[in-house]
Amino acid sequence: MQTDTTTLLDKFKRPIRDLRISIIDKCNFRCPYCMPAEIFGADYNFLSKSERLSSDEIIRLARLFSEVGVSKLRITGGEPLIHPDVINIVSQLTQLPGIEDVALTTNASHLSRHAQALKDAGLHRLTVSLDSLDEEVFQVMNGRKSSVAQVLDGIETAVSVGFERIKLNCVVKKGVNDHTLLDLVRHFKGTGHIVRFIEYMDVGNLNGWKMDDVVTADDILSIVDAEFPIEAVPPNYKGEVATRYRFADGSGEIGMIASVTKPFCGNCTRARISSAGEYYTCLFAINGTDLRTPMRDGAPDKEMLQRISGVWQNRTDQYSELRTSFTRLPAKGAEMYRIGG
Ligand code: GTP
Ligand code: 5AD
Ligand code: SF4
Ligand code: SF4
Repeated sequence: MQTDTTTLLDKFKRPIRDLRISIIDKCNFRCPYCMPAEIFGADYNFLSKSERLSSDEIIRLARLFSEVGVSKLRITGGEPLIHPDVINIVSQLTQLPGIEDVALTTNASHLSRHAQALKDAGLHRLTVSLDSLDEEVFQVMNGRKSSVAQVLDGIETAVSVGFERIKLNCVVKKGVNDHTLLDLVRHFKGTGHIVRFIEYMDVGNLNGWKMDDVVTADDILSIVDAEFPIEAVPPNYKGEVATRYRFADGSGEIGMIASVTKPFCGNCTRARISSAGEYYTCLFAINGTDLRTPMRDGAPDKEMLQRISGVWQNRTDQYSELRTSFTRLPAKGAEMYRIGG
């Protein structure tokens, strides 16, 4: 059933356009802002294989979402490249009718090994999380699970197999990595890759977020601009998460993701599915809608489509706009590693 893709709107008339699928909740990193090692120890109970959506269930959901208007997919985790079937999943997602763009966010620790297969599977775009090029700072930011060299190696391999304009996501935490931002800019300037600085967010409940830990996008901009003059560029598409800036000398661009100080809920067209099959309409949502149970109970497409559409039509999420820069709403949202960021 091909639904009229222009009509599925939420309560604020926002269409559904993007689906972010967390294919696995596990990660081999222990970034303190996401999976602090004291909580996620060796005996931590991640989802079992049967609790996770199967590859077929993931593909079915992506197809159903595409039928109600989604044209853009992002595969996340945890760390998606530790999913044993990730290549098959990518390859099937890229072949779905109506899906124009499939991107994957990775910590790049396993990227060298998978880059060629990801390219062959038709993956369109890669985003790599990289919080610092300073080895010690990077170690602190990832819980001492990887090295800068490993990540750079992954990026190099990805470039050699044909990935271009790779986005490098850097979460900025005051007093931890904010003294190393210019190194990242310097390293990637002129390569065609795009460094994006993300304001540290109050997502989940485990990272002890406080406003004092946030370096604002305005402050980051001033730091960069002082060394490498930059100027604003219009967005690539309506509702783009990152604000774009280009180097005045023409050697590329960077992005700022100011989710705390300049929220972008007004144009938010993003739905999310956790690896357990919960459907969330906001990164900060408290509850998801279980799509796994009805699928496993044999719900036909028509019923699943009604469920998916019904949730979107009732959507009123605008967490980041309701939270002022200096308060945190008393919500208990899902954790980033489950919902994929
Ligand atoms: P493209 O523009 O398609 O390349 O992707 P993107 O920038 O939307 O996706 P990406 O996953 O790279 O987003 C970067 C970061 O922005 C995420 O890791 C989150 O930290 C943040 N982010 C993405 N989407 C949202 C959102 O809907 N709400 C909030 N508050 N933050 C978001
Ligand atoms: N604030 C901002 N970004 C975060 N990420 C994870 N947790 C947070 C947070 N609290 C980012 C990661 C990665 C992406 C998946 O989400 O760094 O780039
Ligand atoms: Fe893993 Fe990404 Fe979370 Fe770090 S931020 S622990 S790399 S899922
Ligand atoms: Fe969308 Fe929620 Fe993020 Fe706002 S806070 S941009 S509604 S996901």
